[in-house]
Amino acid sequence: MHHFSYRDGALFAEDVDLRRIADEVGTPVYVYSSATIERHYRLYAEAMQSAAPAGKAHVFYAMKANGNLGVLKTLAALGAGADTVSEGEIRKALAAGFPADKIVFSGVGKSESELRFAVQAGIYQVNIETEGELDLLSTVANQLGKRQEAVFRVNPDIGAGGHAKITTGSSENKFGVSFEEVGRLYGRAANLPGVRMMGLALHIGSQIRETESFEAAYAKMAVLVADLRAEGHRVERLDLGGGLGIPYNIPKAFDHGPDLIEAYAAMVKRVTDGLDVELGFEPGRLIVGNAGILMTRVLHLNPRPTKQFLVVDAAMNDLVRPAMYEAYHEIWPVLEPQAGTPEIAYDVVGPICESGDTFTSGRALPALEPGDLIAFMTAGAYGASMASTYNQRLLVAEVLVKGGDYAVTRPRQSYEDLLGTDRAPPWLA
Ligand code: LLP
Repeated sequence: MHHFSYRDGALFAEDVDLRRIADEVGTPVYVYSSATIERHYRLYAEAMQSAAPAGKAHVFYAMKANGNLGVLKTLAALGAGADTVSEGEIRKALAAGFPADKIVFSGVGKSESELRFAVQAGIYQVNIETEGELDLLSTVANQLGKRQEAVFRVNPDIGAGGHAKITTGSSENKFGVSFEEVGRLYGRAANLPGVRMMGLALHIGSQIRETESFEAAYAKMAVLVADLRAEGHRVERLDLGGGLGIPYNIPKAFDHGPDLIEAYAAMVKRVTDGLDVELGFEPGRLIVGNAGILMTRVLHLNPRPTKQFLVVDAAMNDLVRPAMYEAYHEIWPVLEPQAGTPEIAYDVVGPICESGDTFTSGRALPALEPGDLIAFMTAGAYGASMASTYNQRLLVAEVLVKGGDYAVTRPRQSYEDLLGTDRAPPWLA
């Protein structure tokens, strides 16, 4: 369920009329709903707590999905931890109020300076993905006089996900150490001074809308935990990753109930029952996906003999998912269409100079005019966090709504900021 709905003929985010935000902040603009974020976090966290013995489930929000400071602070206040993948994310998580001992550092290619920063900050766990990283982490931590708690991210050779580009768990993907190598690496790690191995992690992909793939991968991990223990290793933590998907194709009255979350939690409980480990979870999309929209204004109509192009002021630099993953986002006009309004099949496109800058083709929408506002729904995850300045467009603005209030939590970038970081080479200055 989310808190975007029509009231008196216009789309609202909680109790705020989106037309007001468009007037005051301009477009394109991302709008996030605090109530939706809070609801999804609570639903998820409670379900995972029910899947583990008391106090043994830990939720680390995967902040790559949405790193907006307002969103992060909302989740930190609810007691969430953070799953990070770069020094920038660790810094931002700390700035948002996530305690260091609730921060996990994942990622395929962590640099020496990033590892140093993480160890110095005193984070909860590093998810190690290669043997080289194991050595580097130990060296760095040892230099700092510390021993960093860590887990191995294992590639379970079970991939899943909404698109080939977001599948991570197959042995063809770059992620994690191979299943066969974990025992040897665990043995090596025991002799390294700067790390303390605590267990295992995995993450098989994103936008997964069933539980079978997770179950197959988790069952393999449960066997691995037993094998490692039989070899005398200490395995106290199992980080199960994120990846649970959300409905993008939502009819307007849709309430996406907790069914999938509950089925997932029941499966986790079944597969990990009796393992006696701390369970970690890294949800991203599920927490913030339905909690955000991208609002954009129609700039021009371009009627052609075979197509109707609707040119809007948002572009692929603001929301890249359709161009990159052929992703589907519902489009809701901000003014509620009257029953019986004739529909037109539009190609909704942005101003960027490539044909890939197409949000959707042949989408039936009520007739629209320049100046009208529309909202791309379910844009809270991997929307603003993947935005760029391609075509020298300003980084998009972001707004957080709470009840009848809203705050600009990231102002639209200014042209001074856009141009101000460029430097001419001395021979052309
Ligand atoms: N943990 C790890 C190690 C991950 O790599 C990811 C996402 C997550 C957790 C969170 O997964 P989630 O719960 O959000 O599915 N940009 C793509 C999605 C990329 C996902 C990358 N990894 C998209 O827009 O669909």
